[in-house]
Amino acid sequence: MIKVTNLTKNFGQIKAVNSISFSVDKGEILGFLGPNGAGKSTTMRIITGFIPQTGGNVSVGGLDVSKYSLKTREKIGYLAENAPVYPDMTVFGFLKFCAEIRGFSGTALKKRVSQTIEKCFLANVQLQTIDTLSKGYKQRVSFAQSIIHDPEYLILDEPTDGLDPNQKHEIRTMIRDMSKTKSIILSSHILEEVDIVCSRAIIIAKGSIIADESPKQLRMRSKFYGAVSADFNAPVKSAVISDLKKHKTIKQIDIKNNNKNLTIFPKTDKSVILDTVLTILNNHNTKPVSVFVSKGSLDEVFRSLTLGTDKLL
Ligand SMILES: Nc1ncnc2c1ncn2[C@@H]1O[C@H](COP(=O)(O)OP(=O)(O)OP(=O)(O)O)[C@@H](O)[C@H]1O
Ligand SMILES: [Mg+2]
Repeated sequence: MIKVTNLTKNFGQIKAVNSISFSVDKGEILGFLGPNGAGKSTTMRIITGFIPQTGGNVSVGGLDVSKYSLKTREKIGYLAENAPVYPDMTVFGFLKFCAEIRGFSGTALKKRVSQTIEKCFLANVQLQTIDTLSKGYKQRVSFAQSIIHDPEYLILDEPTDGLDPNQKHEIRTMIRDMSKTKSIILSSHILEEVDIVCSRAIIIAKGSIIADESPKQLRMRSKFYGAVSADFNAPVKSAVISDLKKHKTIKQIDIKNNNKNLTIFPKTDKSVILDTVLTILNNHNTKPVSVFVSKGSLDEVFRSLTLGTDKLL
């Protein structure tokens, strides 16, 4: 388990992290969201023992990171921001070096390196020096070094940054598959990624936690959660709109494109209004060409929770 208690980090006058607390159990994938400069990377650097905190505590597997730095780092895999890898080494040479400093030797070392190269789709570039790789491949090398020792704790700072959509999918699948036996924290600016991969999400703004819940719970805060959008070939008659508006489970209707697009909002996040909407449309012999029920927008929730907070830094 990773346990963070009242963690604070000041850089001179800047309060980068301001008394945050949370824990991550085995099997959990925690997503860190937050505007640029919110304190995500700083928190990760402290958890991995790269920089010391100003106040508070971090324990990994029951050990205080500041007291047992080496012991805890042995159990942690860390993908730092912007893929910091040695540019003049080959991919193979770098991963072999990483496996060696993680304590592997002989056939175990060979196996770890070759398995990781295969897992991270690096076979075709393994003899290339890292400085000749594209951004996405450098990111893959950095991801590879973070998992080479099969760590119990994985801290991934924007792991899919710069990857193409196929690779994003592969890496996300790999992270999810690994999560059963690990505690994982990942940061991301791709809210869809957090929704797909993470079991829990923390939104940090200005060094403080402003939300800590499941991606679904976060989405449910969106005004679009459960809203029904319907498109029509011809303008919908005002009698239909009036009947929809009158229904007790319907809160509001946004009308666009000359009454041809309706977005119908439920009164509460528990109201399921699709059947009601379809029945009312049917009563008026009005057929939509498409109907879509929104799962809520994490983007909208993120913006409403964090808007303006970056300007306060
Ligand atoms: N070494 C440092 N010296 C001074 N200030 C720093 C240092 N490292 C981080 N900061 C400041 O701490 C704050 C938090 O930075 P951090 O890198 O943790 O943000 P972040 O949430 O990871 O942002 P991003 O989404 O842009 O990666 C910022 O104001 C940043 O400028
Ligand atoms: Mg960062």
